[in-house]
Amino acid sequence: MNTSIPKLPLILRPFILSLFLSLSVLLFISTQTPLHQRKTTSSSDQQPPPVSSTTTKATTTTTSSSSGGLRIRPGYSSYNAYIQHQLNKTLNPKLRQIWTTRDWERKVKVFSQFFDSLKQRHLLSNSSKALSVGARVGQEVEALRRVGVADSVGIDLVPYPPLVVKGDFHAQPFDNGTFDFEFSNVFDHALYPWKFVAEIQRTLRPRGVCVLHVALSRRADKYSANDLFSVGPLVELFKESELVEVRKVDGFGLDTEVVFRKKEK
Ligand SMILES: C[S@@+](CC[C@H](N)C(=O)[O-])C[C@H]1O[C@@H](n2cnc3c(N)ncnc32)[C@H](O)[C@@H]1O
Repeated sequence: MNTSIPKLPLILRPFILSLFLSLSVLLFISTQTPLHQRKTTSSSDQQPPPVSSTTTKATTTTTSSSSGGLRIRPGYSSYNAYIQHQLNKTLNPKLRQIWTTRDWERKVKVFSQFFDSLKQRHLLSNSSKALSVGARVGQEVEALRRVGVADSVGIDLVPYPPLVVKGDFHAQPFDNGTFDFEFSNVFDHALYPWKFVAEIQRTLRPRGVCVLHVALSRRADKYSANDLFSVGPLVELFKESELVEVRKVDGFGLDTEVVFRKKEK
């Protein structure tokens, strides 16, 4: 019996060889690319609005800390795709109806308790000029006003007058040093967390207070653009501020309150 393996026709040999080489190269590349690596940008709509020069420095910081506690979710093909994804939920008419009716009072009450507590700890006062970042329909702004902080406003991609004005938190529509107090429970929605933080620090006056509600012990929803695993990366990003306090809270799925105060210089 003849047991020898039949030889490949001569014409097929270069083809098989190049197929083998291409597969080897592809396999090598796929093992070299970390899962959390951010997309490189190539077209203009992949760029967020420009922010201050501190951004570039902070980018390096965030990248270096990404494995240690902050992960940018991959998958957005462009900045516009990220914004559209956020808008899908924020503009949903049925949800907007629920947020402004059934949900309204319940959320305003919980936010009011948080802001009352901050007043008691002298981190917020009736004379504070306050901003809520990512305020959607503005329950938190209503709460600020109810506890006596009259000069309060929110920003979101979609305005909800008179409580919320239109603004992207990666490029806040306010001058430097505008606010005494900024609150946000949407850090996880930032595609560029270092810009989110740089903008808060830019628009806070010296000694101004920033309060973030974040989720550390469970992952947030499918609209989140990053995952935070510890307070460490926030401390790294808030370079112009000092950490004042970290405490556990129960805030609509967010479990940790982190308080920063912007340094004098
Ligand atoms: C989970 S909701 C929180 C809404 C509100 N803070 C609350 O607790 O009811 C996240 C909000 O962030 C807003 N958002 C997402 N990306 C944004 C961006 N780049 N600039 C401003 N707002 C943004 C969304 O439109 C949405 O209203």
